[in-house]
Amino acid sequence: MKIIVGNWKMNPSTKKEAENIFLGVKKEIQKHSHLLNKVKVVICPPFVYLPFLSRLKGKSKISLGAQNVFFEEKGAFTGEISAPMLFDLGVEYVIIGHSERDRYFGETDLMANKKTKSVLKFKMKPIVCIGETKKESKNQIFKILKKQITLTLRDLSPSEISQVIVSYEPVWAIGTGNPCAPERAKVILLFLRKFLRKNKILYGGSVQLTNARNYFEVGFDGLLIGGVSLKPQEFTQIIKENAV
Ligand code: PGA
Repeated sequence: MKIIVGNWKMNPSTKKEAENIFLGVKKEIQKHSHLLNKVKVVICPPFVYLPFLSRLKGKSKISLGAQNVFFEEKGAFTGEISAPMLFDLGVEYVIIGHSERDRYFGETDLMANKKTKSVLKFKMKPIVCIGETKKESKNQIFKILKKQITLTLRDLSPSEISQVIVSYEPVWAIGTGNPCAPERAKVILLFLRKFLRKNKILYGGSVQLTNARNYFEVGFDGLLIGGVSLKPQEFTQIIKENAV
């Protein structure tokens, strides 16, 4: 089963807009319900919309994901959200270690490791993001990616590791309109496959309607889509074109 994840990031600004985007996707998918037999669709809105969208989702097979989580289960951690809270809302997936978390909030691979463990403990699926910066892409790319994976999956059992979804997202390709060329992404995919044999591996970074198919063609199991996931028509078109 392929997987297409929409990461809304810190968008939209109102509940009404969130409703419109979500219903736009839901209605279009319901018209072609067979699509969901081929593709798992996951929407990751900001935390505050999760309870509302969880109700709006109803019985539809769209899954909800969170964009982040804190690794402690409860306590004096002002401003944070825990895995049991997400699980209680019906969240099934959690994005971990997105490069924007690293860049703006100083998150580390060690934190991503703790978060991954907490998400697995509460029976949700972690979507672990890895990727190199422009500078690292020159000559350290394999070393950097291996290090990120090793640290993030440290001390997990083989069965836990197999449940982790890994998203390869070159930092320089995110939100830039400058995606990683599929042939280049394929080289990375083959490298990751050597030690992530059973994992679903996604590609993320400036995915558009025009290039989405290329990443499936070179062997990725799915996509993590930022900007375009806020445009229900284009997002559902990507789902339709790749539900084969
Ligand atoms: P983008 O974001 O599709 O807007 O480039 C992708 C991501 O954040 O993974």
